Amino acid sequence: MTTIHVTASRDYDVLVQPGLLDDAGAQVARVLGTGRTAAIVAGATVAGLYAERLSASLTRAGFRTVTFTYPGGEHCKTLATYAALLDFLAAHRLSRSDLIVALGGGVTGDLAGFAAATYQRGIPFVQVPTTLLAAVDSSVGGKTAVNLASGKNQVGCFYQPSLVLCDPDTLRTLPPEEYRNGCAEVIKYAVLRSETFFDELRAVPVSAQVEHVIATCVAMKRDLVAADEFDRGSRQLLNLGHSFGHAVEKCSDYAVPHGCGVAIGMAIIARAAAKRGICTEDTCAQILALLRQYGLPTETDFTCDALTDAARSDKKIADGKLHLIVPERIGYCRIETIPAVDIRAWLADGGIA
Ligand code: NAD
Ligand code: GLY
Repeated sequence: MTTIHVTASRDYDVLVQPGLLDDAGAQVARVLGTGRTAAIVAGATVAGLYAERLSASLTRAGFRTVTFTYPGGEHCKTLATYAALLDFLAAHRLSRSDLIVALGGGVTGDLAGFAAATYQRGIPFVQVPTTLLAAVDSSVGGKTAVNLASGKNQVGCFYQPSLVLCDPDTLRTLPPEEYRNGCAEVIKYAVLRSETFFDELRAVPVSAQVEHVIATCVAMKRDLVAADEFDRGSRQLLNLGHSFGHAVEKCSDYAVPHGCGVAIGMAIIARAAAKRGICTEDTCAQILALLRQYGLPTETDFTCDALTDAARSDKKIADGKLHLIVPERIGYCRIETIPAVDIRAWLADGGIA
């Protein structure tokens, strides 16, 4: 078993081990104590695949379980689903001594985490990521949110889980396109923090070294979260590819999934960085090549006007300024603070017409 300890406003462990789903109850009991009600939250697909096994494991360990199922997908990451979840918790009389278990990808984790943070002013929650993207990124670090019509993650808060249980065996049922989405976040970590890791991703497919990949990314995220839990400084590096990626997602009305949006966003910023002399053409070419090696998109048909509009509504714009994460070389990126009026020029330099 790999254990990564995260230090934040609430400390917790991220456990990575094949087969862990069937031991989830014992692990949760060890951290939170048993005899409580555990509300499992899952999208319909994941609930069908794994909720019964998770529930059985929790029941064996002495928990009572109830399961909230919603259709799943980014379109459900809304105030309406959040309200339905809160009503479900209230109807089952969950109290602050009970807990929520988020079983699924980033959508479920963000939604369930926000409900856990706010229901009765906060009840414990446990993340059980079942997508690669959630395993390497969204299940760790305590960002929770739902979307508004105006943009992604517009309502949310920081709320750390009490435990993250990652069973890489659950990734075996992940459709190839969802696996690819997770690979975009994995590549993001390599571009941000480690040329060695970047070379490993080039040489060996993620699927052939998945536990190593999850542990490496989570350790990198652990360090950034420990240094800047509330995203005021160095944690913003994790937004590499996200400012323009979120704009692509929004323009597509979320038909472009998060991972593909991040891949396109990384490609745009790499091209812009090369054009502005911040990184070499070779660095840019290496980033684009690795994204393509993993079947990820590096182009978009959305226009500069459309993406500029979408990017300007990003919640990260404050005082008319935006922090763009820009690669200098593989394994090292810098935070570039730009006036929002310059977004169009960066997009144009990134190859957007
Ligand atoms: P997702 O949660 O929508 O899951 C993707 C799809 O995979 C869904 O259709 C789901 O039903 C299916 N699925 C999940 N696990 C499966 C499995 N094991 N087998 C078969 N199918 C499975 O998407 P995602 O890519 O995991 O997460 C994207 C979301 O995460 C976005 O909303 C993004 O904003 C958010 N995010 C949050 C953070 C954070 O720090 N909180 C970080 C990155 C991304
Ligand atoms: N996924 C970005 C962050 O956790 O900060």
